[in-house]
Amino acid sequence: MHLKIVPRPVSHGTRRGRFVLDGRTALTADPALTGVAAWLRAELGQVTGGELLPGTPGPGTITLGLGDDLGPEAYRLSVGDDGVAIDAGGPAGAFYGAQTFRQLLPAAAYRRSPATEPLVAPGVHIEDEPRFGWRGCLLDVARHFMTKHDLLRFIDLMALHKLNVLHLHLTDDQGWRVEIRRYPRLTEVGAWRRESQTGWNGAMDGRPHGGYYTQDDLREIVAYAAARHVTVVPEIDLPGHTQAAIAAYPELGNLGTPLEVRTTWGIGRNVLNAEDATVAFFKNVLDEVLELFPSPYVCVGGDECRKEQWRESPSAQRRIRELGLRDEEELQSWFIHQFDDFLAARGRRLVGWDEILEGGLAPGAVVASWRGDLGAVAAARRGHDVINCSNTQVYFDYRQGPGEDEPVPFGTVLALEDVYAFEPVPAQLRDDPAAERVLGAQCGVWTELIDSNRRVDYMVFPRLAAFAETVWGPPGRDLEDFRARLAGHLPRLAAIGVEYRPESGPLPWQTRPGVPGRPEDPKEWQATIDAWTSNLRDLA
Ligand code: ACM
Repeated sequence: MHLKIVPRPVSHGTRRGRFVLDGRTALTADPALTGVAAWLRAELGQVTGGELLPGTPGPGTITLGLGDDLGPEAYRLSVGDDGVAIDAGGPAGAFYGAQTFRQLLPAAAYRRSPATEPLVAPGVHIEDEPRFGWRGCLLDVARHFMTKHDLLRFIDLMALHKLNVLHLHLTDDQGWRVEIRRYPRLTEVGAWRRESQTGWNGAMDGRPHGGYYTQDDLREIVAYAAARHVTVVPEIDLPGHTQAAIAAYPELGNLGTPLEVRTTWGIGRNVLNAEDATVAFFKNVLDEVLELFPSPYVCVGGDECRKEQWRESPSAQRRIRELGLRDEEELQSWFIHQFDDFLAARGRRLVGWDEILEGGLAPGAVVASWRGDLGAVAAARRGHDVINCSNTQVYFDYRQGPGEDEPVPFGTVLALEDVYAFEPVPAQLRDDPAAERVLGAQCGVWTELIDSNRRVDYMVFPRLAAFAETVWGPPGRDLEDFRARLAGHLPRLAAIGVEYRPESGPLPWQTRPGVPGRPEDPKEWQATIDAWTSNLRDLA
């Protein structure tokens, strides 16, 4: 029997019999697993029309229990005439077992109305657990805002693929998306822009864009994610990517003249100044962020900070002298260190993009390596934990095919099979004990050119399914096997209403003639990568 489970479970075998889910199905759970039971009742109740009341373990009942011998995310699932039994090392494992059970049912099990066909799961025995503890996805809600409703749906889709970290990119030049009570202008001003560039270098659209999450919204999002075993890691990007904050509070910048929230794409010149008052401002911001997000990890960005303004600013030059630093690069490192100490003192771990390696880091800091594999190698060899977010392998804003009909093409081609071929542990670390430092990997949904939830669906699915296999399953891939399972998975996405990209290419309404992308000539692309990574090569 070929099970269409995505990501692929570690092992499975067949059992006699089958299980029919209907309005009389019972559900019973160990008291430690009541949260999982509540979730499963709500999800399955919609398609059975029943209440899945507690019952006796055995035929007609789904039983969630604990298994002492299992890790917290591991589960054993057994389905047959004798009922459904999910044994797990803890709530996360039980949740993944329940997700797998749901995938044994027809795609109708993903609808929100009573099924008109029988909901039959085949007899199986599955043993499963993830390879990596960090199975993440970055979502950029700064460049284009995603409504709370769509964000909750996205969390459900991540959980369906057994991902467990949502890295929420909340602030950037083009928008500030988190309410901060102490500094209301961050959202009054910073959450809105006058207009946006269409595509990469196109005309301005002339339409205001914006939105933000209130603190109540964020508490709800965090709780919703936690119930699905997803940790939300907030990102407040510093000291670059901050024009929206500077627009709200000009004293944070270097120019002393008003700026607007940025309306175009690319790496901006406008960065924070390095005054003590600015560092204090962002510590106050983080105090509120820490209250909202219980995550042990908090990201302060640190990427792509242009240095022109610091070079030209007398006060930045004075700071460099006062602090005894060599240059602007060291000023950036000093800046990040202020937050490294701040977060460590509050029991949290700083996460930053691989630029934070330049200048040395506190031992507890985690490096999100994005410029290819090099940052991961450099960080791991320096004893830092690493998340592999390689742009050349798992950035989902990059185009999915070489065709002319690809909408708003950007970056290099990352087709489904390219993502599927991704290996979270870089080749250079394979025989190196430093490989232990790779906590996992994270795909990136950067949204400069993804201007609606429908475009998110198009860019993310089904590549997210391929990515999930790389962080959940053991090393080694079988593309044909994956494709066969994906054929059973796409109807689930369709039942949910995900407007994914067919592997054959975009549907006619998914192309976007006239919206310019940034097609990359492979040679130019390589030159860009080489320039980006020149300083990383020395560190690796
Ligand atoms: C990044 O892509 N600038 C992290």
